[in-house]
Amino acid sequence: MQRGLPVNMLLRYFTQEDRRWRLVQHLRQRVEFRELNLVHDFRGIGPFDIVFCRNVLIYFDADTRKQVLSRLARVCRPDAYLWLGAAESVIDHESEWRPHDEFPLLNVRTSRIEAPARRLSLVASR
Ligand SMILES: C[S@@+](CC[C@H](N)C(=O)[O-])C[C@H]1O[C@@H](n2cnc3c(N)ncnc32)[C@H](O)[C@@H]1O
Repeated sequence: MQRGLPVNMLLRYFTQEDRRWRLVQHLRQRVEFRELNLVHDFRGIGPFDIVFCRNVLIYFDADTRKQVLSRLARVCRPDAYLWLGAAESVIDHESEWRPHDEFPLLNVRTSRIEAPARRLSLVASR
């Protein structure tokens, strides 16, 4: 839980319940939780400004990884961000994603064909 999350933010935004941490109510009510299999078609959701998909692509072969990155690009706004794990990258997928210039785990959707985002929406992997 605390990997990369400063303790002050952990205490501010989560409450401890037994051995688990739960997002505070006022944020939880703004979140829609849904299960999604990245290998299947997931058109119809989004569009997202940022996707946290850390340490998931490592389970897929190169072909599946390519398809998942394309599917993610299709449900993201132009200039949306994609957060991957340290062992994952968008190298070889530059038509849709490019590495962020400053932050190594962050990638930016390359296409710029639509209007800029109006409100923040995100999707995260468990
Ligand atoms: C190593 S964990 C990473 C968890 C978390 N994202 C992190 O970085 O701490 C891998 C996660 O990938 C998920 N996963 C594996 N195959 C998946 C698929 N086809 N669609 C969606 N999630 C998948 C697993 O359920 C598991 O939660």
